[in-house]
Amino acid sequence: MRVLDTEFAKGFIRMADDGFQQGWHERNGGNLSYRLKGEEAESIQDDLSEDREWTAIGAEVPGLAGEYFLVTGTGKYFRNVAIDPENSMGIIEIDGEGKNYRIRWGMSDGGRPTSELPTHLLNHEVKKRVTGGKHRVIYHAHTTNVIALTFVLPLTDEVFTRELWEMATECPVVFPAGIGVVGWMVPGGREIGLATSRLMEQYDVAIWAHHGMFCSGETFDLTFGLMHTVEKSAEILVKVLSMGGQKRQTITPDDFRELAKGFHIELPERFLYDKGAGAESSR
Ligand code: 13P
Ligand code: ZN
Repeated sequence: MRVLDTEFAKGFIRMADDGFQQGWHERNGGNLSYRLKGEEAESIQDDLSEDREWTAIGAEVPGLAGEYFLVTGTGKYFRNVAIDPENSMGIIEIDGEGKNYRIRWGMSDGGRPTSELPTHLLNHEVKKRVTGGKHRVIYHAHTTNVIALTFVLPLTDEVFTRELWEMATECPVVFPAGIGVVGWMVPGGREIGLATSRLMEQYDVAIWAHHGMFCSGETFDLTFGLMHTVEKSAEILVKVLSMGGQKRQTITPDDFRELAKGFHIELPERFLYDKGAGAESSR
């Protein structure tokens, strides 16, 4: 089977295009990766090549030994994924030790996987373990409103989770575990990848201060929907802050507790702090 005829490639391309249309992918901003199912990797073997050499990942991911990923290329524009998929993305195989990858398809102009490959793979490794293999998609986007908030809110998991939950009733239902925050770091390497993947042990969303967001999920729809929900909530918060920031009424901690009962979800109490006690800057 040809790679571009598979459902996973079609879903990947549609998601990249949807993200571009949201305005989250200026120039080459953002990257996307998908961990193939065993049968998906099997089905495309005839379309793969062994011409490209093994290359160091820049991080160790033994939990992903032998896995195949579809991933966007470094310097490639999300704008072009649907127009020129074979050049904008590629399939990589991880070696038996989880130290090297090789390109098996795509990246046709000699390109390479995203510079955020260490973060993608470290996140995949954690998520594969903690979800029993369910999560397959890692998505990084330059979401405008979330980035704006990282200049004005304290950079804590507690404040970002609580403020974004508060902006739309469905938010705690969509991301009940909360959101993690990584303070500003140099992107494109192992260090930021390790900091992000530590947060992915408990959250499906990690914000990079002054940069963007990472989301993890089972499917393209769920992962895109998660990114979209968090960013929409951030947009509402930006509007509230822009209107003077004073709320006449809001969703209270007890409202959240009632919501949790109604929707049969668990909302960690550490996000339901009393705002009057100066708790907003706690960590
Ligand atoms: P790449 O073009 O290497 O994917 O980098 C884009 C980006 O968003 C870096 O954080
Ligand atoms: Zn980025």
